[in-house]
Amino acid sequence: MANYNRNVSERVNREREAHDEHDVLGENIRVKQRFPHVSSSPTIMRMEKDILAFTDNLKGLRILDLGCGHGEQSLRFLQNGAAFVAGIDISMNYIDSARQSISEAGFPENTFHCCVMDAHQMDFEDHSFDMVIGRGILHHLDLAVSLAEIQRVLKVGGRAVFMEPLAANPLLKVFRYLTPKARSMDEKPLSIQDLAMIDSHWQVNNTYYGLVSAPLAMCTSLLMPENTTNAILRFADWLEQKFNHIKILQPLNQYVVLNLMRPKDAL
Ligand SMILES: C[S@@+](CC[C@H](N)C(=O)[O-])C[C@H]1O[C@@H](n2cnc3c(N)ncnc32)[C@H](O)[C@@H]1O
Repeated sequence: MANYNRNVSERVNREREAHDEHDVLGENIRVKQRFPHVSSSPTIMRMEKDILAFTDNLKGLRILDLGCGHGEQSLRFLQNGAAFVAGIDISMNYIDSARQSISEAGFPENTFHCCVMDAHQMDFEDHSFDMVIGRGILHHLDLAVSLAEIQRVLKVGGRAVFMEPLAANPLLKVFRYLTPKARSMDEKPLSIQDLAMIDSHWQVNNTYYGLVSAPLAMCTSLLMPENTTNAILRFADWLEQKFNHIKILQPLNQYVVLNLMRPKDAL
């Protein structure tokens, strides 16, 4: 089993500083707004629909929103019937804002718990949650340590769903290189080796998005900004659904949605 050690602890401190003092999340959103076709492309709309399908009926379930940021997802989980939502994040600023937005929406205090907590060593009891969900969090963490911790807090047969960026697409690599302020020093989009490691510890059913459409949407955002739902992106979406059946191409996508079942023999 992977261990929490000094390297992880130093990493978490750097991550906290990046978010609390430099608002990396805010900068990331600002950079993405310069390429609006990426987030409005048919491919990303399809991905959002697929993610929503995992969480449209959470009636009676206990959900953990890992790296909850400002808590938009946590709020949606409560609105979708979750009995209890825990939102954890390393940034005090984001947690304050998450707490405020959920309280303002009128949910009683005993239905949610937003707090500053490190995803590598959580205060929750074993088998506390039916689902663990996160957007863009695993690639900020030590994967081996955090995945072991996620398995610990999940109920037997529980599910974990994560939307994460992938490392291998050359154009997206250049984009990341050119926008350093929009990311923290330690974050690392998932590599082929990371995907293989996840595969060896979970029952996995992944879906991939943005192989063709992400680089094209960056170009059309600059070249034809008014034309948001252009035919090029619709064609790209059709094309990449064909290409994404080819396993070797999957890591070249922009995002993976990891749909993970906790194996029964996990510790
Ligand atoms: C890319 S942001 C995503 C935030 C949110 N899920 C969203 O979609 O807006 C990554 C988040 O992970 C949080 N984070 C980073 N390291 C963490 C850790 N060790 N434990 C808990 N949260 C962490 C950051 O503070 C940040 O809010």
